[in-house]
Amino acid sequence: MTTFTMRRLDDMHCHFRTGALLEEVLPWTVRYAGRAIAMPNTRPRAILTADDVVWYRDQILRVRDAMPVQYPFEPLMTIEIRDSTTPQMVMDAYRVGAVAGKVYPLGVTTNSDEGLRDFFSTQIQETFRAMRGIGMLLLMHGELDKPRTLVTKREHVFLPVLCRLVDMFPDLRMVLEHISTKEAVELVWEFGPNVAATITAHHLYLTLNDVIGDGIRPHNGCMPMPKDFSDRDALIEAAMSGNPKFFLGSDSAPHPREKKECARGACGDYTAPHLPELLATKFEEHGKLNRLDGFGSRFGAEFYGLPLNEGKITLTQETWCIPEQCGMVVPFRAGLPLRWQLV
Ligand code: NCD
Ligand code: ZN
Repeated sequence: MTTFTMRRLDDMHCHFRTGALLEEVLPWTVRYAGRAIAMPNTRPRAILTADDVVWYRDQILRVRDAMPVQYPFEPLMTIEIRDSTTPQMVMDAYRVGAVAGKVYPLGVTTNSDEGLRDFFSTQIQETFRAMRGIGMLLLMHGELDKPRTLVTKREHVFLPVLCRLVDMFPDLRMVLEHISTKEAVELVWEFGPNVAATITAHHLYLTLNDVIGDGIRPHNGCMPMPKDFSDRDALIEAAMSGNPKFFLGSDSAPHPREKKECARGACGDYTAPHLPELLATKFEEHGKLNRLDGFGSRFGAEFYGLPLNEGKITLTQETWCIPEQCGMVVPFRAGLPLRWQLV
């Protein structure tokens, strides 16, 4: 049987949630990732301060440690940067282990109702300066919700903000998260080495047609919305290029089935249960399986300044079907086949 072995993944963008959902979703990632960036947009308690970081890491570690089999997995903690976030708050969070601050512009995605309104206020500039000083990364949900701007154009209208920030903070490490357009790929490609981008597995599979082109498919709906074929081609090319500015951030974002299948369905695709398999299948389809280790397990660590994972995972070439449901959540591409399976 054909097998493929690689370093454990680093998932540099993942939603673990809290409570029962955390217990259900975290073990999937723990099976195959050495580390994962834990996104701070939790509810009812968002991760905003050092106390929140300590509390959330504790929740995550408790679930990890209760697993029947133990794996080498460490969560990488973040705080959400809002208009009210001060330099002291980021320094306190950094001291207890937060590696990055995440900005959600107001109103662009799940739980961004208190997101950032102004990237250029005096206080936020000072907060970004403090992050640069201590070496904390700035992670950006790169979309803006502007009047008369279609949801599919939100990334496009954010890019000038990014350009301005890069000019103002040439040595602050920034990550443009879950990029979805050819334009964003080209821009990140041109920036200096302090700017990188994450790419999800689902954006390598989807175009907008898969969300609204053949019936409305709520389980494909996510922010940023998947876009045109040329955009997807550019993302595939970037992810498989071997350029270290592009690395894995799954943005696995579980929502209980009834929150997706309703009149106003939540945004977010759930890829954690089969992330390595989705990636291996897509990379192999393009003859680039040899590039998966860099994209999934090396470039993220290098950008964050972390040692590479030592543990390995193995996949076997075996066709199987993604289950219709994983606990209370419908996984991405439920019922469809994958060509690789994690051992
Ligand atoms: C994410 C979520 O559900 O928390 N949703 C999504 O569509 N990607 C939030 C996010 O990363 O935008
Ligand atoms: Zn996300």
